[in-house]
Amino acid sequence: MDLSTLVELAYLASAVLFVVGLKRMQSPATARPGNALAASAMLLAILATLVDNQVLDWTGILIGVVLGGLIGAVAARTVKMTAMPEMVGLFNAFGGGASAMVAAAEYVRLQEAGALMAAGTGVTIALSLLIGAVTFSGSVIAFGKLNGMVTGNPVTFPGQKPVNALLFVVILALGGMVAGLLAVVGGLTPLTTFAVFSGLALLLGVLLVIPIGGADMPVVISLLNSYSGLAASAAGFIIGNMVLIISGALVGAAGLFLTMLMCKAMNRSLANVMFGAFGQAGGKAALASGEKKPVRSVDAEQAALVMAYAQSVIVVPGYGLAVAQAQHELKKVMDLLTERGVDVRFAVHPVAGRMPGHMNVLLAEADVSYDLLYDLDEINDDFKNTDVVLIVGANDVVNPEARDPQSVIAGMPILDVAYARNVIVVKRSLSPGFAGIDNPLFYMENTMMFFSDAKKAMSDVAKEVREA
Ligand code: TAP
Repeated sequence: MDLSTLVELAYLASAVLFVVGLKRMQSPATARPGNALAASAMLLAILATLVDNQVLDWTGILIGVVLGGLIGAVAARTVKMTAMPEMVGLFNAFGGGASAMVAAAEYVRLQEAGALMAAGTGVTIALSLLIGAVTFSGSVIAFGKLNGMVTGNPVTFPGQKPVNALLFVVILALGGMVAGLLAVVGGLTPLTTFAVFSGLALLLGVLLVIPIGGADMPVVISLLNSYSGLAASAAGFIIGNMVLIISGALVGAAGLFLTMLMCKAMNRSLANVMFGAFGQAGGKAALASGEKKPVRSVDAEQAALVMAYAQSVIVVPGYGLAVAQAQHELKKVMDLLTERGVDVRFAVHPVAGRMPGHMNVLLAEADVSYDLLYDLDEINDDFKNTDVVLIVGANDVVNPEARDPQSVIAGMPILDVAYARNVIVVKRSLSPGFAGIDNPLFYMENTMMFFSDAKKAMSDVAKEVREA
């Protein structure tokens, strides 16, 4: 078998392993091995590419691999779970930037060689650069908004949408020139046209992301992830690399599906996320209303007693559990209750937390068995037969207001916790969650508010359950 056949076979094997790896990410139980499989497939693809191109300067490659591996490993080990969306945002920026640079390098090479560019190549170069550059600058802004370096509030100015639309038209025209489909005007050299095109594409990425509120960044990051895949796929066409085309297309499709799933679980359209500045207006309205309604408040001892003498408890984890890092203490409480013969299960809403699978990862960290985790559809009918629902740092995902057609979260699927005999809500105050709206659940007769940091609350409850 000759070298090129071997390389093609290695590419084929990588592509199959990518698909199997992705498929295994469907369940928390198989996600880790799935990730390892996809990572090994990427290693195989990189090795095959190096062999195929008979790259001779191994020193540079080794330095790159060691440095890149080190940065990736340190970032992955040290990142906090709540900071995961911003890390993904930054990595998307690198992906988009790399694809844009491949396109730029190929364009400059072709120009310098004076080679006549085929229309197809020109279009792919322009596309890869445009999508890659928008992904790069958009992701950098998304990262900045999440970690506070850029304001989390939507940045808007009069005429923003027409300005963006005009910019897009100019970019398309310049892209046409870069691709050789349109004549170069005004005596611009091809390289100058290319530089202006690149600069404006970077500007477009910034302008598209600044009007979106920080709280919507996870959805935007998922969309930019999809863009980074498309840019990589286009780069694959430019350099004729099959595995880059396939892996880019997989990232593009997976990112788009994830974006759509997140929008569906929030009952919002992508257009509403991109142009709606959600979370900001609602937050102000809720806080401005300021009216005081009575709530029933309990302490650790009372909460522990209600649960210790119950037959069934369903735990609803939310963003506050992640903020407080209370998963281990929560697991202790659940173990103590289970030892007492209480039937304990977990109800996981698809957008609880701030990123897909957030709660699953947290609970897996604390060794909560996957068999105890139930999706919204699986468990929603069981609340009415449940003694106690323990809500730890969740708010919007249990807000009955979603049934009001006038509400900003109208139509968002929610966990029907209000039907349980008793509801215990652990949070620090009556402050709203991500959507910025009040939650009528807190004022219901069967609801007990346990005002505390989730970690402290769970550790106090564990003590009390032991003594009950
Ligand atoms: P939220 O509605 O955001 O509510 C979280 C609650 O946790 C807050 O009300 C807060 O109340 C409480 N909290 C914060 N720190 C705490 C601490 N240390 N101890 C105890 N409680 C604490 O969370 P959720 O119910 O998980 O809903 C998620 C929201 O994020 C949804 O609106 C969803 O649409 C949105 N979203 C999700 C995603 C994904 S993919 N998951 C992506 C984008 C947007 P206090 O301040 O009173 O403590």
